[in-house]
Amino acid sequence: MTDSPTPASSGPTDEADTEALRQRALSALLTARERTTLLTDSVDDHELATQHSPLMSPLVWDLAHIGNQEELWLLRGVAGREAMRPEIDGLYDAFEHPRATRPSLPLLPPAEARAYAAEVRGRALDVLDGTALHGDLPLVRAGFAFGMIAQHEQQHDETMLITHQLRSGPAVLTAPLPPADATELAVEVLVPGGPFTMGTSAEPWALDNERPAHVREVPSFLIDTTPVTCGAYQRFIEDGGYTEERWWAPEGWAMVREHELTGPLFWHRDADQWLRRRFGVTEPVPGNEPVLHVSWYEADAYARWAGRRLPSEAEWEKAARHDPSSGRSLRYPWGDEDPTPERANLGQHHLRPAPAGAYAAGRSPLGVGQLIGDVWEWTSSDFLPYPGFSAFPYREYSEVFFGPAHKVLRGGSFAVDPVACRGTFRNWDLPVRRQIFSGFRTARDI
Ligand code: AVJ
Ligand code: FE
Repeated sequence: MTDSPTPASSGPTDEADTEALRQRALSALLTARERTTLLTDSVDDHELATQHSPLMSPLVWDLAHIGNQEELWLLRGVAGREAMRPEIDGLYDAFEHPRATRPSLPLLPPAEARAYAAEVRGRALDVLDGTALHGDLPLVRAGFAFGMIAQHEQQHDETMLITHQLRSGPAVLTAPLPPADATELAVEVLVPGGPFTMGTSAEPWALDNERPAHVREVPSFLIDTTPVTCGAYQRFIEDGGYTEERWWAPEGWAMVREHELTGPLFWHRDADQWLRRRFGVTEPVPGNEPVLHVSWYEADAYARWAGRRLPSEAEWEKAARHDPSSGRSLRYPWGDEDPTPERANLGQHHLRPAPAGAYAAGRSPLGVGQLIGDVWEWTSSDFLPYPGFSAFPYREYSEVFFGPAHKVLRGGSFAVDPVACRGTFRNWDLPVRRQIFSGFRTARDI
């Protein structure tokens, strides 16, 4: 029952290992930039600099912020270079300026933002080429800083995709449908009680909040084999879900009343059917697809209506990683191998979740499906540090968000790249948020 063949304090020393990690870092950085380019080149410069929602930055802010973080950690941090443009650092510091105020800042215009990000990237690839990835410096050991920056860019690519979903006007993004070859599976499965290893000390690019690996005792529970579907969620709505206070946490009920909510974000009722808007296209809500764009409060209310509850974060991770035959925690539900298009809906290859029951090749040993990819899954848990947590390399990634204000989401969505998605990966947000690619599954005590 261990996930740590490598002690936390040592990295790979083998030449071949570090060479493989260098290639992995290069390819992760290139993949991220390809996506960033597509997301920022698919609208004109005016739209790039416009704020499409007070919840989001203008896309041109994300673009220069991506470059600025890369400059900060790879050029200044790893290579010890001087700041290229010290006067812009404050503009792209997420903590100095909340999203709503970013459009009024003297941001780099689109052409300058593109040139800056490209210049930083050129230099960062030289640094990657010339840096030894073994040794003891935690920032460069196993290519951590390069992996962290690729993950950071991909996280902003997901953020930018949310901005695309919020913008009005005709569609500019298209993608093929995800596989719909759903196969029969049980409605729920029993996860046996006992200890399991949560978190990781071995995964080289795991972020600070996923560390260290530690043992948790998790009693037996039952968990859904798929995320809750739009069809099931419609039955909640039709049964008075949004009109009966008894299903809701008090703050959730206040949110429903204040904003007069009647269903998930982007849904509206037309005569006797539900429609949704998805990346500029209006379409009937598909009954067999995992529900998307619900807040934690809506997930919590649905679960109570269904006589169930949200899984805790530890339950979710045990369902996703525990292999009862070996007692080990796996990297992913299907095993230790990296994600592939057959195992999970990741990487913005399909701009929607796959029907419940798809991705049979991605199921856990206990038969739980679609844990990785498709929709982020709300858990009942607050975002808290693991025992032995230490902030690295900066407190503002995780530590400043720990506490009861944020709820944990797990598993990644169709909008997340594999580099930023693992069985241990933790996301978090406020319980009122629903512009994110969020869904959920339910659980119950045995
Ligand atoms: C982990 C998704 C909550 O977008 O606020 C990006 C990721 N941190 N830049 C966010 C992040 C710094 C973060 N989330
Ligand atoms: Fe950021």
